[in-house]
Amino acid sequence: MESHCKSNLPIALRIPRVHFYDCFVHGCDSSILIEGAANEKTAPPNNGITSYTVVATLSKNSKLHALKFHENSRIEKNHPFIITTIMESVIVITIVLMYSLLVMTSTSAQSQQGTRVGFYLRTCPRAESIVRSTVESHFRSDPTVAAGLLRMHFHDCFVQGCDASVLIDGLGTEKTALPNLGLRGYEVINDAKSKLEAACPGVVSCADILALAARDGVVLSRGLTWAVPTGRRDGRISSASEAANLPGFTDSIDDQKLKFAAKGLTPKDLVTLVGGHTIGTTACQFFSYRLYNFTTTGNGADPTINPTFLPQLRALCPQNGDGTRRIELDTGTPSNRFDTAFFTNLRNGKGILESDQKLWTDASTRTIVQQFMGIRGLLGLSFGVEFGRSMVKMSNIGIKTGTEGEIRKVCSTIN
Ligand code: HEM
Repeated sequence: MESHCKSNLPIALRIPRVHFYDCFVHGCDSSILIEGAANEKTAPPNNGITSYTVVATLSKNSKLHALKFHENSRIEKNHPFIITTIMESVIVITIVLMYSLLVMTSTSAQSQQGTRVGFYLRTCPRAESIVRSTVESHFRSDPTVAAGLLRMHFHDCFVQGCDASVLIDGLGTEKTALPNLGLRGYEVINDAKSKLEAACPGVVSCADILALAARDGVVLSRGLTWAVPTGRRDGRISSASEAANLPGFTDSIDDQKLKFAAKGLTPKDLVTLVGGHTIGTTACQFFSYRLYNFTTTGNGADPTINPTFLPQLRALCPQNGDGTRRIELDTGTPSNRFDTAFFTNLRNGKGILESDQKLWTDASTRTIVQQFMGIRGLLGLSFGVEFGRSMVKMSNIGIKTGTEGEIRKVCSTIN
């Protein structure tokens, strides 16, 4: 680098620009250096870049390429005369400021609002493996527990943030609220907690156990894994009345979007996360009204239900039958398999919950459903990847970190 600068001093100014433009498109991966028609290099903003040859000959990989930027700073220090005009100084300062902003943004993405991946590495190195093996052992005897844990984490996060407030026992706590009566998997969390208290007393929060267990359940159901930032602390407040924040199965798409937006989640997060219904079941009482009393005309069924599917659903949930009988939310595919069949079912009018089927009937969310189905002509999305991404966002709703809250000794009671 030094030898290039000796023969051509302004190179020191240009290299940062190449690195900066590289980082802003597809990340800092040297994609800007690739030759070929319609590559980044040929885009109008990159037209003025002239120092490719230096970088290309020197750089073996993107790390080295980034290193050039670093070396430049040193060279500039040693040779102040390099900055020949005020204009060039301004450009350098702007680039450095924008670069710092980029670094700050990417750092905050890694540590979401105070949580970070590997929070317990030093204080309780086995924390994540203890949670995983506990979920695994429960899953082996009852694979449906994965769905229970995922839903429980969602219900925890939407009320008072992801702080394990849903686990607290007592009169009028969240647990007693109507939408939470069907939650399952408390025994898994309690089991993991007692093992963790034996291994590292007072260290691992119930909120983190729940976030990790939800992820582990998805992975056991053959979903893709994701890194769960940890460091949440447990809340001390739990009130049934606040469970009204939770979306309901009759909610319109606008209401669903509003409830998710109130938690910082986009319509894409909404569709992605509701895709969690690819595993688990629902009781007949939450959708049988769609089969018999939805309209006063015709057969009384919700017209968005596929007419060939209706008899099947009616057989599973007979009129005035047992409302607590459970059926798969994602019918027709191997149960408890984390896949995209849920979205295909929506397209085929085979959504079970009214709120789920609306993801297809409403044009604004249908496009996202189509992306998960890989419809030709639309930019496809990987459900597995997006699910992990949206889960990290959801798992960080209103969390307590640092000195807030507490680390509960027993997940069902505040200390
Ligand atoms: C508009 C948003 C949502 C609505 C209206 C909704 C509604 C429901 C309803 C009514 C059930 C059946 C409960 C029962 O019969 O006991 C259910 C189950 C379930 N929900 Fe959701 N949900 C929503 C979003 C989510 C999200 C974001 C997740 C996870 C990220 C999720 C995961 C689950 C799972 C895994 C089950 C199955 C639970 C089990 O088998 O025990 N849901 N949901």
